[in-house]
Amino acid sequence: MKYPPEMSGSFLLGQIPEFVKDQLGFYRGILPKYGDICAYRVFRKRHYYVQNPDYIQQIMTSAKWVRTQISRKMLGSFLGESVFSQEGALHLGQRRLMQPAFHRERLAHYAEIMVAQTANMLSTWQDGEQRDMVDEMMRLTLEIVSQALFGTSTSREAAEIGEALLIIQRGIEEDYRRYLLLPAWLPVIRFGKANRAVQVLQQTTQQIVAARRAAKREQNDLLDLLLSAQDEDGSRLSDDQVCGQVLALLFAGHETTANTLAWLWYLLAKHPQVLAKLRAEVNKVCGDRLPSMADAPHLKYAEMVFKETLRLHPAAWYAERTPLEDTQLGEYAVPKGAPVSICVYALHSDPRYFEQPDQFIPERFAPENIEKIHRYAYLPFGLGAHQCIGNQFALIEGQLILATMAARVDLSLPEGYVPKPRAFITYGIENGLPMRVGVRQPTLA
Ligand code: HEM
Repeated sequence: MKYPPEMSGSFLLGQIPEFVKDQLGFYRGILPKYGDICAYRVFRKRHYYVQNPDYIQQIMTSAKWVRTQISRKMLGSFLGESVFSQEGALHLGQRRLMQPAFHRERLAHYAEIMVAQTANMLSTWQDGEQRDMVDEMMRLTLEIVSQALFGTSTSREAAEIGEALLIIQRGIEEDYRRYLLLPAWLPVIRFGKANRAVQVLQQTTQQIVAARRAAKREQNDLLDLLLSAQDEDGSRLSDDQVCGQVLALLFAGHETTANTLAWLWYLLAKHPQVLAKLRAEVNKVCGDRLPSMADAPHLKYAEMVFKETLRLHPAAWYAERTPLEDTQLGEYAVPKGAPVSICVYALHSDPRYFEQPDQFIPERFAPENIEKIHRYAYLPFGLGAHQCIGNQFALIEGQLILATMAARVDLSLPEGYVPKPRAFITYGIENGLPMRVGVRQPTLA
């Protein structure tokens, strides 16, 4: 039996010091030193690291691999029961019930919300002012996903939920760091701000769901679809399950897209030739009018730009899985219950699969080049049973926001600005993204 090579590190702490110093650098540095599978330690506990697309495919698509207990516990403790904490038949059944909410005809409705909200945001921007694109994109994508979920009827509650989500996202990071060092069976106990935020989040969602059930009035939004979803065998989501899944969608559906868009504005400011090509496409497809779902198939370059941003700066940069039984990855043995890390960020910058991996080259995703990319080396939306349910939503959202904004504003960076990457649940920009706004078109058609 052969075990993956083990990284050398501090006897007591293992790889914690390197990890704490620079998590992204730590994972990126593994391949050249140890190859694409190895073991590392967090204190005395052995973790495994995998950067081999075929092993990753095996891990993500096999029913014998599940999310680790710690990630399920952390997310479950504030979302309640949702696709993030469920596995196996229960998870599959709930996903099936949620799926119709993401069908193509529904996306056309969400596309209208995406463009209207973006135009709304732009109408409040003044020529010459400075805006933080991280904050702006966060607000915009939260507004979009809340409207897609609840319609406009509950915007006050949606705002409360948004605020609570932001507090919790920070709280969960602290929890994760703490609980990584404690036994997995310990219950999660929270105090203060994060604890209050969890209560607000759960109570507000319960109120929205209860009010919608009582009203018996269809609003034709995602929440209606979740409440009326019914499987072939007649099973439905309970109110608690609807609340959990609603929170999962809010949680997963805004910060990821917002961080991708923030990175994208940064990259476009640094690559004026890409921006010029993008604007030429938007001009050809949409002219002066706002884009719509019907334009999406023609906004090919916008899609390539968004996909390349997701390669270079994958919002969901990291995943963890564990095998339910002793198993093999290639010729290597991995024991039951061992945590296995997959760093999508490092995978996307692996020079074996991407030439000039640190360069921003949207043409990689041109139809004539896309076949050259290894199928399992580009995984911005994950793979297998837990693959992102909102991937089409996110791609359309990226394309339409990009097309709406690129035609109407110039965004420039302050001199000497350098973004500080921030990688925890999602991969974003720590120090914000201050950009100067130049209005290109005074009116929004
Ligand atoms: C650029 C934007 C997005 C990125 C990069 C992204 C990425 C991902 C990834 C990688 C996963 C799988 C995580 C894992 O394997 O553990 C995931 C799961 C998920 N995503 Fe997204 N996502 C995005 C946008 C969205 C949107 C817009 C929604 C909904 C409106 C959404 C809803 C979900 C849900 C519910 C899951 C959990 C699925 C499950 O566990 O079965 N995501 N996302």
